[in-house]
Amino acid sequence: MREFLADGGAEATPIRFARPGGWKQGLKGLAASLRFAEAYGFDASAGKTLLLPDVKGEIALVLVGLGKGDEIDPLLPGKLSSALPKGVYQFEDWPGDPELAVIAFLLGAYRFERYRKRSAEAARLVLPDGVDRARILRIAESVALGRDLINMPANDMGPVELAAAAQALATRHKAKCAITIGDELLKANFPMIHAVGRGSARAPRLVDIQFGKSSDPKVTLVGKGVVFDTGGLDIKPPAGMLMMKKDMGGAATALAAASMIMDARLPVRLRVLLPIVENAIGGDSFRPGDVLKSRKGLTVEIGNTDAEGRLILADALALADEESPELLIDFATLTGAARVALGPDLPPFFTRSDKLAAQISQIGDRLADPVWRLPLWRPYHALFDSKIADMNNVSSSPFAGSVIAALFLGRFVEKAREWAHFDIFGWTPSTKNGRPEGAEPQTARLVYALVEEKFSANITGQAAQGKGLRRARRTQ
Ligand code: BES
Ligand code: MN
Ligand code: ZN
Repeated sequence: MREFLADGGAEATPIRFARPGGWKQGLKGLAASLRFAEAYGFDASAGKTLLLPDVKGEIALVLVGLGKGDEIDPLLPGKLSSALPKGVYQFEDWPGDPELAVIAFLLGAYRFERYRKRSAEAARLVLPDGVDRARILRIAESVALGRDLINMPANDMGPVELAAAAQALATRHKAKCAITIGDELLKANFPMIHAVGRGSARAPRLVDIQFGKSSDPKVTLVGKGVVFDTGGLDIKPPAGMLMMKKDMGGAATALAAASMIMDARLPVRLRVLLPIVENAIGGDSFRPGDVLKSRKGLTVEIGNTDAEGRLILADALALADEESPELLIDFATLTGAARVALGPDLPPFFTRSDKLAAQISQIGDRLADPVWRLPLWRPYHALFDSKIADMNNVSSSPFAGSVIAALFLGRFVEKAREWAHFDIFGWTPSTKNGRPEGAEPQTARLVYALVEEKFSANITGQAAQGKGLRRARRTQ
């Protein structure tokens, strides 16, 4: 990502953001440019971009339309990294948050090039004054890491490779990383991770990263790591299976957020738990009708082997919950129903805490990493009753699938002080500003900012005082 940043600003081409009413005044001294822009039909509508030449034919100025009204997309500059020819550019007058503008530019420049290299050289941006270079690179590179992991096809991103990526990240930040593999999962009491993963020739595993001082507040991230979801014996139809390399999007998002938190050395004891499996079809696959005993002791009847994510997450969440973390967050490409409810760009999230919900929504809005709260609607617990076990893994009703999956997970979270679950899509179906078509670790930037806001040592005033009081009370 750093290759899209330029060092010197002297020779940079200015990028001017234009409003429908006022852009012509600025071109008064450049009569030819004004005539050209008018003839071209430039109207300063949102995202419209026009290059204006000087007398030598060099690019003198880039005009970018902001559109009408106050609803300017904070990621609009993300459009420019691919729209502009090779060269060095600089924002003249971006009206929004400059840090987010640079992040958007970098995120828009991302390409997945493992199997085919990009040809054209890219545009580069001069860092605006006051923008922290280390911080924007931390965010952009962590998102790129998450995207790379998701974009990688399942033949090259199996349980071994995903766990190795987690291990490499831990090593880079001098964190501990323990990995429990195959039948060891049974000995260590992760029976549902084992059951879901045992049908594959590629053994299931649980990654457990621990970073920071044990005396710092405990923050735990859990991510669904299904490297490929065939549906299991309840096999998916072709259209449903096509994209299922992205079913480890939760794990990739947890790693992206962890990468930001560790790189910033936030004062938390961070733990990352990744249950990693391939939901495959084989002689040893788990079956519809099986009853699994979970780590927590609750028994689960399998109504559908395609509802596998909640099973592996349940064991990981139970482990996370055992040490009563201050904050427990899980990410998962858990249900198709989440996308039916809100579409691919707006992941639902669930939490019992109204305060945490408000904080999450507000940060998501501010950072253009949007989410929408859905309820943990308790009456729907009855919909996944089982006649022979503590619960079924699917509902008897076709409705509210994302809510039911969240309620299922919630049964394994009792002691964490606060818990939030993100049911992400992990993918951008068609390119948007700062979001090229393909993998997207949705909510990773949001969660980094959340952990920073809640636990950063630099926070002064009421927030910090409130935290101090709560902690004092808990020790009584
Ligand atoms: N990984 C899928 C959910 C999914 C599908 C996420 C498509 C994003 C896009 C999950 O494991 C799954 O198959 N869920 C089932 C649950 C059902 C069997 C209750 C679903 O959503 O259909
Ligand atoms: Mn599935
Ligand atoms: Zn799945």
